[in-house]
Formats: sequence, structure tokens, C-alpha cells
Amino acid sequence: MCGIVGYIGKKDALPILLDGLRRLEYRGYDSAGVLVLGKSANLAKVAGRVDDLEKEIAKKDFSGNIGIAHTRWATHGKPNKANAHPHTGCNKNFYIVHNGIIENYKELKQELQKNGHKFSSQTDSEVFAHLIEEEFKRYHNFEAAFKNAIARVRGAYGVLAVCKDDKEKILIARKSSPIVIGVGKDEYIIASDISAILGRTNNIIYISDDEIAVCENNEIRISNFKNEAIGKKVHKVDLSYKQAEKGNFDTFMKKEIFEAPEVIKNAIRGRIVQEEGTVKFGGLDDAQEKLKETKRIIIVACGTSYYAGLLAKYWFEELACMHTDVELASEFKTRNVVLGKNDLVVAISQSGETADTLGAVLEAKRKGALTLGIVNVVGSSIARETDIGIYNRAGPEISVASTKAFISQATVLLLLAIFFARKNTMGQDKGREIISEIENLYAKVGQVLGQQKQIENIAKKYSKYKSFMYLGRKYNFPIASEGALKLKEISYIHAEGYAGGELKHGPLALIDKNFPSFCVATKGSAYDKMLSNIEEIKARNGKVIAIATQGDKKIVKFADDVVYIPKSSEIISPILSVVVFQLFAYFVAKYLKKDIDKPRNLAKSVTVE
Ligand code: G6P
Repeated sequence: MCGIVGYIGKKDALPILLDGLRRLEYRGYDSAGVLVLGKSANLAKVAGRVDDLEKEIAKKDFSGNIGIAHTRWATHGKPNKANAHPHTGCNKNFYIVHNGIIENYKELKQELQKNGHKFSSQTDSEVFAHLIEEEFKRYHNFEAAFKNAIARVRGAYGVLAVCKDDKEKILIARKSSPIVIGVGKDEYIIASDISAILGRTNNIIYISDDEIAVCENNEIRISNFKNEAIGKKVHKVDLSYKQAEKGNFDTFMKKEIFEAPEVIKNAIRGRIVQEEGTVKFGGLDDAQEKLKETKRIIIVACGTSYYAGLLAKYWFEELACMHTDVELASEFKTRNVVLGKNDLVVAISQSGETADTLGAVLEAKRKGALTLGIVNVVGSSIARETDIGIYNRAGPEISVASTKAFISQATVLLLLAIFFARKNTMGQDKGREIISEIENLYAKVGQVLGQQKQIENIAKKYSKYKSFMYLGRKYNFPIASEGALKLKEISYIHAEGYAGGELKHGPLALIDKNFPSFCVATKGSAYDKMLSNIEEIKARNGKVIAIATQGDKKIVKFADDVVYIPKSSEIISPILSVVVFQLFAYFVAKYLKKDIDKPRNLAKSVTVE
């Protein structure tokens, strides 16, 4: 999604703004722009990357201590220079950058056009700049014009505005689109994502919906639409930008896949009560009584987080005997999901900013349900909106395709299943048994990662195919879907994730020698049925790669290629198998020379509906 950076302080704004944009590059975008107010208003925009923007600026005078910058992910209008932000009005006095969607932009545009405004882009965002200009005619004051312009807009926005004739301030407003302010020494860095700020300061102010902030030299004022001042805490964030650097890896995705063992350790740290065979979460303490009453769990999420939720459904049902539904957040929000008094809505989101998931949380709250957030990004919107929560502690995930976040979500969800199970039906011994499996998990994931060379060879062999089937049963069905998603996201190869039992009900028609299948055939209750699936595929000349359990000799007779994972209970093995899928997708994309960290058309955090 779009990225926003703003700077006001004593330093040269340009390098700080460009550095901020670079750190937001991972979110995926198609054009970029920057404005610095110095002796005049210096504006540059390009369709392309931050490097292109830097080239465009070279040799021009961009000195000044205040500026705004933007990376755009096209929604309204093509990704070209005219549509890139910052946008300005007719008299080029006000400049804005905007993230989100203005729902009533057509009406506003028509009205402004009637008043003589000429638009130079196809974006909804440009309306902001003209509206401020129009309101300024009435109020002759930048702040008043900004507030009145914002009040007329419907939709989602994180917006920053500056004025050429009033270079002392950046105005900020937020509704359903993240904005954070870094408070440095004699400077403020404003951004849509904390990673653009880390390294300069760890002191962060989170702006909430319907708040307006004014950043001036040495002063910050925050108010609501009624002009009431709002006091804000400065949070000290325990993150470093180092965690968001590639190190010796060629891509963030590979680095993040290899962080899986660490991520598991972090997810379980301090949460296990070994002697009682149970689990505790600090973030759930406030709602212990209500949680005891929980009868049904409804999980809402998107993308990879949705598949983590689907996997958790099997655990909640099997271990805790709890009725569990998993909903795509976008559907949950629009349907009339009937919620009962003792229902718990669990929102899973790496970024904590996904608009659909946030919308689902708000809808659940409106209906009176207790909401629990499983979120990676500390202080994000979903983390703040949910009643109770558990942080993933996976560290910044930069690659658009999610890998380590899935591992941490799965680990946390398994712990949560034990938490509920021990309140319901599970005995202490069973609790201890699963917990000790979880404690051994990171070492086993390490063994899977140790097979990267073999997985790379298989990926090389199969990278020529245009379509793939991913099959799994029971716990392995959700990860088959996640495996297929990984492949399509970064290699642009068509892949379908199916439950093995469904193969005969349609997808089998696709199978021939050009349509290979990736089958999870690890030891467990679904093993024999998966072997039958593999036979069905082989009988149609389909190639099969199997994920199997170490020591399984039988599988070699069935599959063309086999990747072994360490022995473990079938409850836990999907977390091992998914790492194989992640590495396979990574290597296929590498052989096809794709832009692995920034796949086309995708964004890391989808903050529009
Ligand atoms: C985007 C990303 C996916 C991610 C999904 C949900 O589509 O490209 O990788 O799984 O959003 O994101 P969330 O931050 O809510 O987990």
C-alpha cells in the first residue's frame, strides 16, 4: 500500500525523506514523489522506484527543513507521474500526500470543478489539495482550512499537508489508515509505518482515527474535530531498524524463512507453565473470566493470516473441543454474521493494519463480541482496537510474501488452543506432552532449513511448469493452501490448494504430465488416504513431489520426489511442512528471476478495502 513520510526539523529534509521512502519500499508500490519546502516548493515525481526519484532530483536544489514524500500503490488512476503524490491545488500553495480511499471524491471533484478548480491527475487524493485551497478562501488560515477540508471527506485517509506560505508546520489527519509520529531531538518524522522512523528515534506517538495533529518546530498539538486537545503518550518502541536489514541474505524473504527457529522461541518465551501443562498470556489477563465462558471462536483474517486461522480451527476443535469458524475478514464484515454472547472473535494480522480485518474487528465490537488480536506490529490499529491481544514477537517482516509471520501465528495459535483446552477438556499430561513438542519445534524447523539444497534442486527441476496442485488433508489442508499462495505470490505460477478428499470432485480433471502436485503425505491419520490421492495422480501421469516423515521408505515408490521432515506429532507437523513450501516457492521464484521481496501488483499491508 502507499507509504507516507514527512519531516520537519533542523536538518535537511530530503535525505531523511528518501531514506524513509526506501524503508517503505517493501510494502510494494509503483510510483514515488517528494516535496521539500525551501526557498521555493521543490517537487519531484516518478513512475517507478525511489532510485528513479533520486535520479530525477539529482542536480536540483532540494534544500529545506520541511517536506513530505510518498510511494503510491495505484487504486484510482494509472501508476504514472501525474498520478504520483504529492498533489497540489491550482495555486500550488498547498501540497498533500494521502494513503487510503476517498469515497465521495467524485462529488467533491465535481463541486470543486464547478468552482473553477482544474485537476491534473485521475486520483481521488488530489481532491484534498483543492479542498484545502477552497476552504482557505473562506478561513484564510491553513489549519482551519485543513480541518474543514478533512471534515468534508468520507472514506479512509492518512494524510499529511504542508503550505508553501506557512512553512512552519505539517498537518496530519487519520481515519482507518495508519499514521505514526516519531519524536526526535528538535524534529518530527511522520510516517505510515514505523520502519520509516526507526533508526532516527524510538519515541513514537500513535495517531488514532478522527484525530488531527499539527507538528511544528518543537511542538506537537493533537485534537479532535471538536477542537478539543488530546493528550498523547510518547511510547518507547523496542525495535531496531537492524532487524529490518537483509544481512547476508539475498532477499528479505530468505532471511525471514531462516528466522523461523528464532521466531518460534520468541513466540513461546515466558508463556509456558510446564509443571501445569498449560500456557499463560499476559495480554489475556484482563479477560480471564469472560474467556472461561467462551463457547465459540470466530477467526477473522486475510491472506496468509487466514490460512494460519484455518490451521488453528483444527487445533481448537481437536484439542479444546471448541466450535470454531474461520472467516475471510472481507466477507465477515459484509455478511450479517450472527454473534452470540459468549463468542470470541480472534483477528489475526501480521501488520495489524489490514483494512478488512480491522473492519471485521469493528463490526464484531459493534455486535458486542469480545475481540482478541493476534498481531505482530506493536501499537498497530488492530492491536489497539481489540479488547485483548497476543503479540507475535516475530520482528519486522519486510518481504511482501509472509513467511516467518505465519510460523509465529501458528505457534501462538497452538499455544492458545492449549490455553483453552486446559480450561475445557485436556488433562495435564496431554498438555505437557504437546508443550514439550512445541519446545522441540524450533530445532526441527532448523533441520528442515538444513535441507535447502535439496529443496532448491527440486525447485529448479519443477520451475518450468505453469500450474501446480497442492494437496493435504486435515491439518495439512490449510498449509497446502498456504503453500499454493506462496508460489503464486512470488513466482506468478498458477497453484491451487485443495483438501485431498476433494481431488476426485473436480480438480483431478486438471491432472496430466504438465500439472504436477505437491502432496503433504506425512505420517498421521490421513497418511493412507494421501497415498491413495498420490496413486490417483500418478495414474493420470501427473508428477508428484511429496513431503513425508523421516524414515518413511514406502513413499519413494509413490512419489517422483520426496522432501523429508523430522518425526513429530501430526498436530505439529504442518509447521514443519510449511517451511518446505516456503523454501520451494522462494527457489522457484529465484530460478525464474522474479522480484521476490516485491512481487508485482501486491502490497505488504493492504490498508484499503
Ligand atoms: C497482504 C499481504 C499478505 C498478507 C495479507 C494479510 O495481502 O501481501 O502477505 O497475508 O495482506 O496481511 P496481515 O498483515 O493482515 O496479516
